[in-house]
Amino acid sequence: MACDVEAEELYKEYPSGVIAVRGISFKAGRGRTCLMGPNGSGKTTTLSMIAGALRPTKGIVRVCGYDVWGDGWLTARKLIGYAPQRMPFRDRLSGFDNLVWYGLLRGLGLIEARRRARRLAEELGLEGYLGRSVASYSGGMRRRLTIAAALMGEPEVLILDEPSSGLDPKGREELWRVIEVVLKDLTIIYSSHMAVEAEAHSDYVYIFHQGRIAASGTPQDLVKKHAPKPKVLIYVGEKVPPLEVEGLKPYVVGAGVYMYSVDNPKEAIKIIADSYLARGFAVERIEIRRPGLEEVFLSVTGRKLEV
Ligand SMILES: Nc1ncnc2c1ncn2[C@@H]1O[C@H](COP(=O)(O)OP(=O)(O)OP(=O)(O)O)[C@@H](O)[C@H]1O
Ligand SMILES: [Mg+2]
Repeated sequence: MACDVEAEELYKEYPSGVIAVRGISFKAGRGRTCLMGPNGSGKTTTLSMIAGALRPTKGIVRVCGYDVWGDGWLTARKLIGYAPQRMPFRDRLSGFDNLVWYGLLRGLGLIEARRRARRLAEELGLEGYLGRSVASYSGGMRRRLTIAAALMGEPEVLILDEPSSGLDPKGREELWRVIEVVLKDLTIIYSSHMAVEAEAHSDYVYIFHQGRIAASGTPQDLVKKHAPKPKVLIYVGEKVPPLEVEGLKPYVVGAGVYMYSVDNPKEAIKIIADSYLARGFAVERIEIRRPGLEEVFLSVTGRKLEV
């Protein structure tokens, strides 16, 4: 089961006077919604306001129609599972005992909490590790335990703050397999500062910049709307001059490296290579550069997506 999460004009000023979130509105339904943005853009602040962990200065959050910071708070919070960047586990206890503890906090009886902990451990590939102390867990195992803990209350909405940070590529792959296979029916809202991850693993992306949403859409739509055209790069050696090809003007990247902005890179790559070959020039290498969410971020904010 899944249900919608709606945020209306969220605003957060910390007691220190820092304004972390400056009017954020969005909607997320079943599937994966990503809040993508650099350090300090307000992702964690927004996620914790949605999760019911941090009170907004202004604004409304509704989960399945229930107001998280109003009358519906108790029902809303039961529907949410929150996996913060660093879950406060009791490191000397086993993974199993930690999960059972989160179950008890969620109001489960002991027998039910144990049953659920075992089932989740199986689903998330933690069976072999449940008896070990959390202190001995790798980053990837700890992250899966965090997700298991967030799922103990059987939520419909799962909030994951930077789920893949600190994981190696294999750990990331396993994590996304779990999210996309085991948890596919939930409403998942996650944060990331990695454009490649946001593009590959999101149904919908909100681009965060300085506490505001700079753009939003499916990854494909964002790229289509905001990114520059795909490029074809040809490497021909420094003695070969840049050629204009069927009205496409070359941009000189360096000696013997020329770039063309094209609409259809698959077709263009052949036409461009053929033009050089027809003039008797050797082509050392030719490649397509497709713009992604990194370029979208640059285009909508004027800044690089630095972390
Ligand atoms: N408890 C706090 N007190 C005061 N300022 C805070 C607090 N937490 C965050 N901030 C500030 O609010 C802004 C947004 O921080 P936030 O943690 O929401 O960003 P983020 O997008 O999650 O960044 P990161 O990618 O580093 O996790 C930053 O300027 C940060 O310094
Ligand atoms: Mg954060």
